[in-house]
Amino acid sequence: MRGPRIAPFSVFRTAPPVSSSSVAPAIAILGTGSHAPARVVTNDDLSRQVDTSDEWIFTRTGIRERRLASAGETTSGFATAAARAALADAALTPAEIDLLIVATCTPDQPMPSTACLVQTALGLGERVACMDVNAACTGFVYAFDVAWGLLASGRYQRALVIGAEKLSAYVDWKDRTTCVLFGDGAGAVVLGPAPAGSSARLLDARLGAIPGTADLLQIPGGGSSPLQAEAAACIAMKGREVFKFAVRGMEDIARELLSRQGLSGGDLTWVVPHQANLRIIHALAEYLELPRERLVVNLDRYGNTSAASIPLALDEARKDGRVRPGDLLMLLAFGAGLTCGGVLVRC
Ligand code: ACO
Repeated sequence: MRGPRIAPFSVFRTAPPVSSSSVAPAIAILGTGSHAPARVVTNDDLSRQVDTSDEWIFTRTGIRERRLASAGETTSGFATAAARAALADAALTPAEIDLLIVATCTPDQPMPSTACLVQTALGLGERVACMDVNAACTGFVYAFDVAWGLLASGRYQRALVIGAEKLSAYVDWKDRTTCVLFGDGAGAVVLGPAPAGSSARLLDARLGAIPGTADLLQIPGGGSSPLQAEAAACIAMKGREVFKFAVRGMEDIARELLSRQGLSGGDLTWVVPHQANLRIIHALAEYLELPRERLVVNLDRYGNTSAASIPLALDEARKDGRVRPGDLLMLLAFGAGLTCGGVLVRC
């Protein structure tokens, strides 16, 4: 049976140009951090559990190994560790944060939000706004844009934006079509007023979602719907359809952001895409006519960590000196929903 027709984002192309930076105070990335669990699980390890091989997994996805939570490790724990690293990188104390957003589709529990758990763990004060955002693998980009909007309003000063996941809790470890893809971890950024004299600032962002595509990628069980009472709380995916959407959706978002800012693909120093599949990332680069060397890729070592994947990759690229001040960066994601989003940043 054919899936729903996917026509992502063509309607966005008719939207009027927006220059957020001209109407709002300049906001910039002040620091980044990340954390991954210590337990490494290789493709060979998985091939002893299900009928698969390192060769199949690496050729189809680009993944060699992933980090998986050990007993007792939690999404909020990963988020807290990444947030601490980001605060240290920004040379800020917890007292200087007044907005905390955690992007996750694998919260520790339905309520309270993971953000509230992280707030307590970090020792943040009671005048800090705390919330979770769930846009699956696009969650970090969604949270980033929400935080930017609130900071631009002038009502908040500095935000911690975290992507954190423990997807291993929602993987059917007997299903070879999904269990080889995912990993656990967290990444975080601190957003706040752009430093005086610096060109660093957030330039533009675009979010979207395609109605009628919920069944392409989901965790059907575990929620409150009586219709799904019998469904498993495990990731279920129509991989080929998601693949097609991912490339087209991210390409459309990227083109719109570039055109609104009068830029071309060649102006981008780095693209940090959602780390789901190397073939998706390479197809995106081809369509945008970007050399592969400008892609930040680390999924070979982490697999798909959903909302954590972009901030984890960004942090690695900043810390190892690839991403430098002045660089023009595009963050691009797709995920369950189906959702899609992008952010354009001057570092
Ligand atoms: N090992 C060995 N064989 C496998 C495995 C495995 N781990 N998984 C599937 N196969 C087999 C299938 O059974 C099938 O066999 P058959 O031909 O005998 O029926 C064959 O390999 C081909 O399967 P396909 O699903 O058609 O393989 P495809 O080339 O499409 O690759 C993949 C699958 C990697 C999942 C790809 O479709 C993909 O990456 N899609 C995008 C998914 C994605 O990015 N998801 C992230 C979502 S992000 C979020 O929001 C959580």
